[in-house]
Amino acid sequence: MHIKAGLISAILAASCLAPPVWADELVASAASPNNILNVDVRIETGGKLAYAIKRRGEDVITWSRLGFILTNAPKFDGGFSLEKKTLASHDDTWEQPWGERQFVRNHYQELRLDLVQKDFRNRRIAVVFRVYDDGVGFRYEFPKQEQLKDVKISDELTEFVVAKPGTAWWQVAGEVAALEHPVLKTPVREVGTANTPMTVKTEDGTHIAFHEAALVDYASMWMRRVEGQKFRAHLTPSATGPAVERRAPFSTPWRTMQIAGDAAGLYMSDLILNLNEPNKLGDVSWVKPSKFVGVWWEMHLNKSSWGSGAKHGATTANTRRWIDFAAANGFRGVLVEGWNIGWDSNWAGGGADFSFTKSYPDFDLPALSAYAISKGVRLIGHHETGGNVAHYEKQMDAGYKLYARHGIDSIKSGYVTDAGAALFAGPGNSTHFAFTDSQEASRHFLTAVREAARYRIAIDTHEPVKDTGLRRTYPNWLSREGARGMEYNAWGNPINSVDHEANLVFTRMLSGPMDYTPGILSLEGVDGKPIHSTQAKQLANFVLIYSPIVMAADLIENYEKYPAAFKFIKDVPTDWADTRVIHGAVGEYATIARKDRRSADWYVGSVTDGAARTLSLPLGFLAPGQRYVAEIYRDGDQADYRTARRFDLVAEQRTVDANDVLQLKLAPGGGQAIRLSPVP
Ligand code: NOJ
Ligand code: CA
Repeated sequence: MHIKAGLISAILAASCLAPPVWADELVASAASPNNILNVDVRIETGGKLAYAIKRRGEDVITWSRLGFILTNAPKFDGGFSLEKKTLASHDDTWEQPWGERQFVRNHYQELRLDLVQKDFRNRRIAVVFRVYDDGVGFRYEFPKQEQLKDVKISDELTEFVVAKPGTAWWQVAGEVAALEHPVLKTPVREVGTANTPMTVKTEDGTHIAFHEAALVDYASMWMRRVEGQKFRAHLTPSATGPAVERRAPFSTPWRTMQIAGDAAGLYMSDLILNLNEPNKLGDVSWVKPSKFVGVWWEMHLNKSSWGSGAKHGATTANTRRWIDFAAANGFRGVLVEGWNIGWDSNWAGGGADFSFTKSYPDFDLPALSAYAISKGVRLIGHHETGGNVAHYEKQMDAGYKLYARHGIDSIKSGYVTDAGAALFAGPGNSTHFAFTDSQEASRHFLTAVREAARYRIAIDTHEPVKDTGLRRTYPNWLSREGARGMEYNAWGNPINSVDHEANLVFTRMLSGPMDYTPGILSLEGVDGKPIHSTQAKQLANFVLIYSPIVMAADLIENYEKYPAAFKFIKDVPTDWADTRVIHGAVGEYATIARKDRRSADWYVGSVTDGAARTLSLPLGFLAPGQRYVAEIYRDGDQADYRTARRFDLVAEQRTVDANDVLQLKLAPGGGQAIRLSPVP
């Protein structure tokens, strides 16, 4: 076949004729509902399968191959013929129990291709594309068939060829613990192996975010640059065999590309959520979006310790102090880390001594949770595993049960260890080390969430597998970390860069909520080292970095020291009826307006990188004809993150309506936060 095609194309080239159509045959096309994106699929010489994507007629992804390498059967890489193609359209709107917006429209064209490999005993596979106006997702389906009952995948041959030269914002995959590598900015042709979301801006201004949706019982996808601007899906390796082992029938996660004319369009896309299954938990009114405070930043500052002894942070007395503070200021939750036995040995990357049911003697769990409930507050549980999944799984159920008995309805979990160094159980009593984005890890994280749901407990995972929108299916997966959070500003080397938040919004945040722990009004880490922020930016982050549960992370004394700024932290909600990205440029600036789910208030957060800027904010999102009080928290005229003037915060009020345009004057490293409430 190859030889014949090669020979014919040589003859054709000699006689200057176009190649014969049967060599690369366009077999299917689909357009998005408003014809903004188009997907073409062709079967190439040798029966290889490839797709391409255009936006408004311009190439975005040029011919990119599809297929698999298996360990127990020949690869899926050619000899395909199309058995059936099905086009269908879909348009509905569903409601989120909590989120960036209450109602989400799911409007797409679906193209389903059933393919057969006649030379491989009629082996079958299907590829399903969903084409939206703001992106494309596709997945493979392995049907039940005698020829391939167990599917052992060593890697995918899925490609993504970026059509035009561009810049990429990306994070190295497989290196450094828990997706906490800083975001890098390079030409697309200098990317190595990237974690997703990877955000690309091509020279014509098109923005593309590569990611995946519904990562269930499968290895997480890394993107390996093969040559030029061609990437190939690279599945997180398994410690024990092929990257993925499944029994057919099953579907892979969706490979996704959010595609927009600007950075704002990427964040506005609901593609990832739409490609996930609807809520499987039924009534989730027990999942409570809310804010919390607690015994946390003091350990990161080294003022107290997780372990026992004179510096122990999780004491009954200290926790009561935090409960009183939460109750007095309207916070629902109090997180307490270091409450349980196991922190005195090498816990990070160890974790074998953790008990998830036994408290240190100076922490009275039953009394404290009863005290909290009596004041309208809930303790937030903490399960740090040190990455020792094998050890944790033996106690997880008992740990959940204990918390449920004491009315604790959310748990922050943690998996602090190095990349590839989480410990999993194998056959018998064996254990092995593996990545926290491997197939077995994706299984563990989801099991932890599903099991927690049985106890009506919500989970906030730190050092997690990346977010792929599973919160739609399991709304008790409230939040996660999965990027550099505030903790790096305590002890990081380096600490978070000044463009960190403007990067996060258009990279990590495209995948879902992040427990970022904002609100460090003291603006300093360990030993008073300044962080790269003004005070106004700390407030803006509450609106910008979305999470249904948000920790106001600073110490009580710092909130008492800055009451004007603290008022915004007390006011800002964490659950939204609507979200609008007003402006943004990846890594430079971002402004987001969000409408409160439980009132008519709007909130705005805007941040810049190290450059001072003035951004125009048209208030057209406000209800027409209604006057609003704007409570503005802005950088002082001399504010600058590099000097002591980073504390210069001006809190002022004015009356506005939908016809007004505010000028947001952002200091270097600065930001602005605004609350807009209807004039009664
Ligand atoms: C890492 C988490 O991200 C952090 O929030 C937590 O305090 C430590 N692990 C200890 O569990
Ligand atoms: Ca972390």
